[in-house]
Amino acid sequence: MSTDVNRRSITVAITGASGALYATRTMAALLERGCHLELVISDYGRRLLRDELGDAASVDKLSDYLVSRYGGGVRTGTTTLYSNKDLGAKIASGSQDCQGMVVVPCSMKTLAGIAHGLSRNLVERAADVMLKERRPLIIVPRETPMSLPQLKNMVLCAEAGAMVMPAMPAFYQMPQTLDDLADFMAGKILSALGFEHELYPAWKG
Ligand SMILES: Cc1cc2nc3c(=O)[nH]c(=O)nc-3n(C[C@H](O)[C@H](O)[C@H](O)COP(=O)(O)O)c2cc1C
Repeated sequence: MSTDVNRRSITVAITGASGALYATRTMAALLERGCHLELVISDYGRRLLRDELGDAASVDKLSDYLVSRYGGGVRTGTTTLYSNKDLGAKIASGSQDCQGMVVVPCSMKTLAGIAHGLSRNLVERAADVMLKERRPLIIVPRETPMSLPQLKNMVLCAEAGAMVMPAMPAFYQMPQTLDDLADFMAGKILSALGFEHELYPAWKG
């Protein structure tokens, strides 16, 4: 699928940390808004989709899964899937037009790779590009408890300009379902990327 110049282009990276539902909800919300998604999924991200959401959410069936779970509105957007090994992909270069990137969920391994600028794979390289080009990079790490190196890696990413947004949904919205929790994180990600949304009710004090 080609990129329409009028679409907002966002890179979505899915890595092997728990929370596949955050990734699918974020993808669906961006697609519903007509975005073009540059999608990269690590090997453990692929496993995570299957382990946490079932075989129907495996990468080759992901488009159908999004439609069945979130509705036909996701067809408003488009997606290009890249291999994580493809360091020659468009999003590996600063000359591409991608306006932001989210790593959701972000494993501690990928967090470390981004923090130290390793660019060992396309997820890490695309994130590095966002940092060097001063474009929005949102990292959604998940681990508990966290070691000192992991905490320091979050600081390094924040110092380099990334927004570190731990997968920590709030409970003051009185969530009733797992989808409510995923909506909250997806809403936070959309806000950080500059999208309006009603994924969770605004706090009224
Ligand atoms: C089902 C499952 C859940 C996992 N959850 C986490 C997690 O929450 N956080 C984390 O840092 N790693 C987690 N891991 C381990 C990572 O997937 C592993 O370190 C992997 O090498 C990360 O590689 P990636 O960043 O290239 O996806 C999990 C692995 C599996 C199979």
